[in-house]
Amino acid sequence: MLKIGIDIGSRNTKIVIYNAQSKRLEFSAFHTTELSITEGVNNLLKEGFAALNINRKINTLGVTGYGRKLYRDASSVLSEISCHTAGCLYYFPEIKTIIDIGGQDSKIITLNENGKVADFVMNDKCAAGTGRFLEMTALRLGCNVSELSLLAEKSTQDLTLNSTCVVFAESEIIGMLSSSIPPEDIVRSVHRSIAKRILAQMSVIVWEQPLVFTGGVALNKDMVKCLSETLNSQLLTPPDPEITAALGAAILAK
Ligand SMILES: Nc1ncnc2c1ncn2[C@@H]1O[C@H](COP(=O)(O)OP(=O)(O)OP(=O)(O)O)[C@@H](O)[C@H]1O
Ligand SMILES: [Mg+2]
Repeated sequence: MLKIGIDIGSRNTKIVIYNAQSKRLEFSAFHTTELSITEGVNNLLKEGFAALNINRKINTLGVTGYGRKLYRDASSVLSEISCHTAGCLYYFPEIKTIIDIGGQDSKIITLNENGKVADFVMNDKCAAGTGRFLEMTALRLGCNVSELSLLAEKSTQDLTLNSTCVVFAESEIIGMLSSSIPPEDIVRSVHRSIAKRILAQMSVIVWEQPLVFTGGVALNKDMVKCLSETLNSQLLTPPDPEITAALGAAILAK
């Protein structure tokens, strides 16, 4: 029995095709979120159907994410909090806290002993603790976000980024570059700065281990390391952290 999960994020739209009987994830993919939400989702559906050789309609489709209300053809419209939770529990049934850092916001979700959402906090007001900060950094350094982790791993000096706002941080980075500070040290300082913002965000909620780090930013291994050091806690990461909420949407879809 196949179910579909779609996560329409501010940066990327993701699809998961999930077999509810075998509990297997059969297909996943993502593309940049397009201006036309419906067209973007339909392209992903076409891709998934072709890959799995499906030529019938699948009626059980759960949609979540920032753009979820703009897609009209779903059987369930689901909150991001419940989808991240279901997707993370699929991989790690024992977790107590979820950190999702996406392109535009960051969310901390705590779970009770039954795996149900106990509390959550969301930052969607400030880009400093989100993937947007990494995108700006990559743009300034003339590289791709996927290259930031390897770059930061070469860092040899611990620099502190003073600006707490991405707009001011951008000027600070330009200043660092013109003072010939190595790009790797700049990227490491950005990673540490994001980690500090997440720690501050977590200070208003009671959280405990085990912790899972999900969302596109968890693809960045150096970011995982910096966040783990700042929180003084081990972090679990799903095998494909981009698609966790889409997986949760497929699992919860009715
Ligand atoms: N290959 C990659 N390597 C490292 N980081 C990446 C990679 N691809 C994306 N990212 C990071 O992930 C972020 C996007 O994450 P994600 O797809 O979870 O966001 P979203 O769900 O669209 O946004 P939101 O949840 O805020 O609406 C980008 O801003 C970037 O920082
Ligand atoms: Mg997201």
